[in-house]
Amino acid sequence: MRPFVLVTRRVYPEAIDYLKQHAEVDYAASEDALSAAELLERARGKSAIVSQLVDPFPREVLAQLDPSVRVIANVAVGYDNIDLPAASERGILVTNTPDVLTETTADLAFALLMAAARRIVESHEFVHSGKWSRWTIDLLVGQDVHHRTLGILGMGRIGQAVARRGAGFAMRVLYHDAQPVEFDAEYTTKDRVLSESDFVSVHVPLTPATRHYIGEPELRAMKPTAILVNTSRGPVVDEAALARALRENWIAGAGIDVFEREPQVHPELLACRNAVLAAHIGSASVATRLRMSMMAAENAVAALEGRRPANLLNPAVWESGASRKGA
Ligand code: DGY
Repeated sequence: MRPFVLVTRRVYPEAIDYLKQHAEVDYAASEDALSAAELLERARGKSAIVSQLVDPFPREVLAQLDPSVRVIANVAVGYDNIDLPAASERGILVTNTPDVLTETTADLAFALLMAAARRIVESHEFVHSGKWSRWTIDLLVGQDVHHRTLGILGMGRIGQAVARRGAGFAMRVLYHDAQPVEFDAEYTTKDRVLSESDFVSVHVPLTPATRHYIGEPELRAMKPTAILVNTSRGPVVDEAALARALRENWIAGAGIDVFEREPQVHPELLACRNAVLAAHIGSASVATRLRMSMMAAENAVAALEGRRPANLLNPAVWESGASRKGA
């Protein structure tokens, strides 16, 4: 009998076609979230779930998940929506979609950095408003990017890709992470990154330890001319503190793609003209979102066929042989 797969939300059709070659597909092709109860109901008898970052799998949901579920294949590199230790305890394999979105997300981080520095959005709105009447020497003047200091917090794949872009702009690059990495840039403390950088770009994963990794003390430690960029996860930055920092000019600007309670944005942040805000589009190029959809489908199928998925997040479950064998 062919295995059954639940796809929780709309993905690129190529991924559905691929899944259908290997399994029966229950496709919840909507933009609306399945409630926990609906998810648990639809997961009955399924061997795999293809999920997205907006589908929460906390411990209590995983505890009630049908024992048939062998793998959750998340269409994202981030997996803070899934309680990984709880999934591992239950023998559920969990996969993500690393690498394919690294350069695309770094492009967006750099685009936000440049947009905030050069006031692109304000300029765009001004021209569209029809109010532009003359060129003046200080009309919408912003900050240079080239030859300034770029600080990276979290020097993983995406952090390094942003640092490479900075090097291309002849920037001095400082970074902080738990350990130094092999990269031609200066490894230093978080404090020094904050206090010496003209641009601080955050690339840490969301964990209990990184919730509000950037809060009031960090924002106050930054230069008043500095710009903060966040393309990681919203709760990494204390949004209320950021709004205050922007309003009271502790820092000069921000480029933010991710928010604490997406799709809601703190009303005070919405009111800050020195914040360039994007709708969690870090990986949103056609090619990358298609590749992410395919990767998740491939990870799911590998697990269904008893092969080790390429992007396994809990290899110990696989290696111990504790992974579920399915219904
Ligand atoms: C991810 O993959 O974690 C991004 O936030 C969405 O692409």
